[in-house]
Formats: sequence, structure tokens, C-alpha cells
Amino acid sequence: MTYARIEIAPSILASNFAKLGEAVRAVEEGGADVVHVDVMDGHFVPNISIGIPVVASLHKATRLPLDVHLMIDQPEKYIEGFVRAGASRVLIHEEATVHLDRALSMIRELGAQAGAAINPGTPVAMLTEVLDKVDTVLVMSVNPGFGGQKFIPGAFEKIRQLNQLRARYNGAFRIEVDGGVDAENTAELAQAGANTFVAGTSIFHTPDPAAATRQLRKLATEALSQRV
Ligand code: DX5
Ligand code: ZN
Repeated sequence: MTYARIEIAPSILASNFAKLGEAVRAVEEGGADVVHVDVMDGHFVPNISIGIPVVASLHKATRLPLDVHLMIDQPEKYIEGFVRAGASRVLIHEEATVHLDRALSMIRELGAQAGAAINPGTPVAMLTEVLDKVDTVLVMSVNPGFGGQKFIPGAFEKIRQLNQLRARYNGAFRIEVDGGVDAENTAELAQAGANTFVAGTSIFHTPDPAAATRQLRKLATEALSQRV
């Protein structure tokens, strides 16, 4: 399958923003594949985080690809700005735009990978018509807006459904999971079909974020090798 490779995506939302450079270096050392950047607008989600200037600074500070998760209404207005700032992958929410197909195409036309995200209350079926236009499907396993929330187990079934659908598309998209991902659920998520593991608290709220990154990879890789 095209996207069987595991990606560990530390979410810097859980890091100390005054020491962002150090946070990124720590997870680089731990072998992170991408850096997950959570953008919140205070409308789509009840919180405000960071935006285009921080993505631009991160782009200069790391060689890791930036996985930019837009938790903003009408993401199409800002896609170009984020891609120009250095986003390698842009994830937009199905719930945040009435023009999902157009917005995903826009991301690809700008040369970035396109991701479609769904909230815990949104069924996988809402993405059926765009699965040929995405590089990644992001299954939210918490209601977006905050780090440190409890994992919602309904995500397992959605990942299994997507994993089955993916076979029809020759494995042409990744399955990414975000929210409450930790050492307890990573193996089961990998077995269900997840490839990209976003983790904030379970990486940055530990004494050794590099070691926590390595541990998540080990758990995911081992679980995958046991899968038939
Ligand atoms: C939630 C964000 C997540 C968050 C994950 O709105 O999209 O990326 O940072 O944080 P943890 O791993 O702490 O749940
Ligand atoms: Zn996120």
C-alpha cells in the first residue's frame, strides 16, 4: 500500500511557544517526520493560536515538512498564504467550507499536499466525493480547539472504514489521527489503518520529547508489522 509508512507528527501546540525552536529540535532529534502546526481562528473553534508568520518562521527553523492543520472558517481565503509561508501539507475541515472540492484542488495546484479533516461528529461518508483529491484524511479524535483532551474511541471505527475505502483508491491517501494520541492507543490506531500520528501532550508534556517521539514510532511500527 502506497502510504503504509508511519509518520510521527508532533503537535507544537503543546510546546512552550517562547521556545519553539528548541521544541522543534527536540523532535527532530527523536526522528519526527513532520511538524504539526495547529491554526485556530476563534470562529471555527473556540480558541486562537498561531498563523502565517509563525509557519514562515518554523519553515526557516527546520527541514522537517510542516503539516498545517487549519481550524478556521473559509480556509480557502488563507490557503495560498500558508503554502507560500512553507506549509508542505494543508489540512482543511470539511465542516469549515462549502467548497471543499475547490479548496482541496487549490491546495494541490499551489504545490502542497491536500488534507481533508473531519470532526468527531462528522461521518466518513461526508468525504466520499473528494477521496480522489486528497493526500491525507485527518480523523479528529477530539473536538478540535485544545490540546490535552481525552481521546474519543469512535475514531477507531472511522479509521477502519477509511482503510477499507482506501483499497479502492490504490492506497492513494494517508490516514492521519489527531487528538489524545498516546502510548496507550497508538498500536491499536496503527492496526486500524492510521499512518500519521499527531501527538502534542504525549510528546511535549514529558521530560524527554525526543524519547517520546521515538516510543510512539516504535509502538506504531511494531503494531503494523503484526498486522496481516
Ligand atoms: C486539537 C489539535 C491537536 C492537538 C493535539 O485541536 O488539532 O493537534 O494539538 O493535542 P493532544 O495530542 O494534546 O491531544
Ligand atoms: Zn491538529
